[in-house]
Amino acid sequence: MNRMTAPSTLTLTRPDDWHLHLRDGAALAAVLPHTARQFARAVVMPNLRPPVSTVALALAYRARILAARPTEGPGADFEPLMTLYLTDNTPPDEIRLAREAGIVGLKLYPAGATTHSDAGVTDLRKTWRTLDAMQREGLPLLVHGEVTDPAVDLFDREAVFIDRELIPLRRDFPSLKIVFEHITTREGAQYVLGAEGPIGATVTPQHLLYNRNAIFSGGLQPHFYCLPVLKAEVHRQALVEAATSGSPKFFLGTDSAPHAAHLKEHAGGHAGCYTAFSALELYAEVFEAAGALEHLEGFASFHGADFYSLPRNSGTVTLRREAWTLPESLPFGEAALKPLRGGETLRWQLLDGSRTMAVGLPSDSPLTAA
Ligand code: NCD
Ligand code: ZN
Ligand code: ZN
Repeated sequence: MNRMTAPSTLTLTRPDDWHLHLRDGAALAAVLPHTARQFARAVVMPNLRPPVSTVALALAYRARILAARPTEGPGADFEPLMTLYLTDNTPPDEIRLAREAGIVGLKLYPAGATTHSDAGVTDLRKTWRTLDAMQREGLPLLVHGEVTDPAVDLFDREAVFIDRELIPLRRDFPSLKIVFEHITTREGAQYVLGAEGPIGATVTPQHLLYNRNAIFSGGLQPHFYCLPVLKAEVHRQALVEAATSGSPKFFLGTDSAPHAAHLKEHAGGHAGCYTAFSALELYAEVFEAAGALEHLEGFASFHGADFYSLPRNSGTVTLRREAWTLPESLPFGEAALKPLRGGETLRWQLLDGSRTMAVGLPSDSPLTAA
C-alpha cells in the first residue's frame, strides 16, 4: 500500500481470538482484561493442571472466567468460548453433552508436545470412537500439529505431523471439522490452502512477524520462544501470504500464552509469547507491511466465526496509526509478565477505553513495575 494514501484509522467489526491461553486464578485475573478489551470472544485453551477434560470442568472454568471479566467498559461483555482437552479416555458420550453445553471444540495435544500436554493423546487410534462422535455432532477438533517423535528434528515436527497424522486422520474422518492451530510452516499453509473439506488454520502474530533468528539475536531471547518454535524466513513469508490473502481458511488466533517472566528467563524456560495486550496492533502491522490492510477484517472478525458456524460480532473497534510504546512489563499475580515487543514502539494503536491508558506510562505506574 502507498504510504501517502494509506488510511490513518482503521475500523473493523469487533474481532475474536480463536486460540488463547487464559490460565487460572491470579494469572487469569491479570490477563483477561487485556483480551476482553481487544476481542469480543476468544476460544479458551484447556491446558490447565488438571486439564479441562470434561464438560463439568469446562463450565466451572467458564464461570471463573466470567467472574474475572471487567465489570464495566469495553470488555464487560467478553464471551469465552470453551474447549475440552482430548485425552486417550474422553468418552464418546461426553461429545453430545459438550455440544449441548456450548463447548466449541476439543483440543488435541499430542502427549509431550507442549506446555501441560502430559495428559494428551498418546495414539490417535485410541480416540477413534470419540472422533467419530465429534464428526457426527459437528464439533471441531483443534490440533496442536507437531509430532513428538524425538527422532524428528524440532523444526520439522509440523511438516512431519501433516504426513504422519493429519492426512490419515482426514482420510478416516473426512467431515470432521479441523482447525490446524498456530501453523508455522509453508507446508502447513499450503496443506490447508489446498485441502478439500472442513479445515482452517489459526496464525499467531509472532509467526507472522518473526523468524527463528529472533530467538538467537543479541544473546538467547526467551520471550521469542514458543511452541511450535519460530521457523525460517521462507516459512514466515508463506504464513504472511496465506493470512493476508483473504482466504477464509485462515483466521486470527494469538496463542497468547502468559508465563511469569522469571520462568521464561531461566534454564528450561517455558514456551509461550504474550501478545494479548497488543494483538490487533501487531496483526495490523503485518497486514500493512503486506499491503493488505483491506483483508485484516476478514482474518480478524469474519473467517473464524464463519468456520465455527457462530454469528459474526456486531459493533466495531478502531485502530489509529500512531506510534506508542508497549510497556516492558505487566503485573502477573505476584510475578511480572513481559509482553512480546515490550518496551518497543508499535505503529498502530487500538482506540478503546482504558486500553489506551497504557501509552506514556509514568515510571511509577503499576503497569511498568517489574
Ligand atoms: C502454550 C502454553 O504455554 O500454554 N505455549 C506455546 O508456546 N504456544 C501451549 C501451546 O499452545 O502449545
Ligand atoms: Zn499449541
Ligand atoms: Zn496454544
